[in-house]
Amino acid sequence: MRRNIVAGNWKMNTTVPEGVQLAKEVCEAVSAAQGLKCDVIVGVPFTHLTAVREVIDIEKVGLAAQNCADHVSGAYTGEVSAAMVASTGANYVILGHSERRGYYNETPEMLKTKVDLALENGLKVIFCCGESLEEREAGKVEDVIKAEISESLFHLTAEQWANIVIAYEPIWAIGTGKTATSDQAEEVHAFIRGLVAEKFGDEIAGDTTILYGGSCKPSNAAELFAKPDIDGGLIGGASLKAGDFMGIVTAF
Ligand code: PGA
Repeated sequence: MRRNIVAGNWKMNTTVPEGVQLAKEVCEAVSAAQGLKCDVIVGVPFTHLTAVREVIDIEKVGLAAQNCADHVSGAYTGEVSAAMVASTGANYVILGHSERRGYYNETPEMLKTKVDLALENGLKVIFCCGESLEEREAGKVEDVIKAEISESLFHLTAEQWANIVIAYEPIWAIGTGKTATSDQAEEVHAFIRGLVAEKFGDEIAGDTTILYGGSCKPSNAAELFAKPDIDGGLIGGASLKAGDFMGIVTAF
């Protein structure tokens, strides 16, 4: 049975005290909520991981880093390894976000290495993919998604695949207020599940969690999450206020 997930991606927002406060509020709200139909994760800056881990109940709220290095250890000034992330008590890492691909030139090959290192260190991976507006208008959505997923993930074994969550995030919908319609999102989610089925079979595809990301908010989450292949969301802007985030968490 696949799990529904709502994961916050705080990006480069909040100081450590602000982040600790936000994580506390989310954890308290999740603990108080009855009958939640999804797992909840917060994706925080590296600097916040240890402090946030101390104030959350990891059984109730998962903890994700937003990146990790594509090297094991050594002379890579400013980088943070998958082992370091795992040593904070975090249990997830977000990889391949379009902001990392676009602003920091992360390639499918680098992401493949990051995925391997994350899994070797016991982290689950939230792997992002998504097309630009230009690619959508040129009719290339499926080609882009297929390349992003297959080049960085299809070397994995079925056993490893159990630790992968996919997040479909059309770049044109991120932080723009322009959500994909639920039908547009469902079309791509179904395509992704089909790709996974071709590679790993129907059962594993059926168990794979596929999140939608891009201007998801309390007012549109329920419609998105009602679609058969949309299993939750990766939430940027609306994850920075516990009330908004919980409005999405309770949208199932
Ligand atoms: P947004 O970001 O919700 O602010 O659009 C989503 C994301 O980039 O993960």
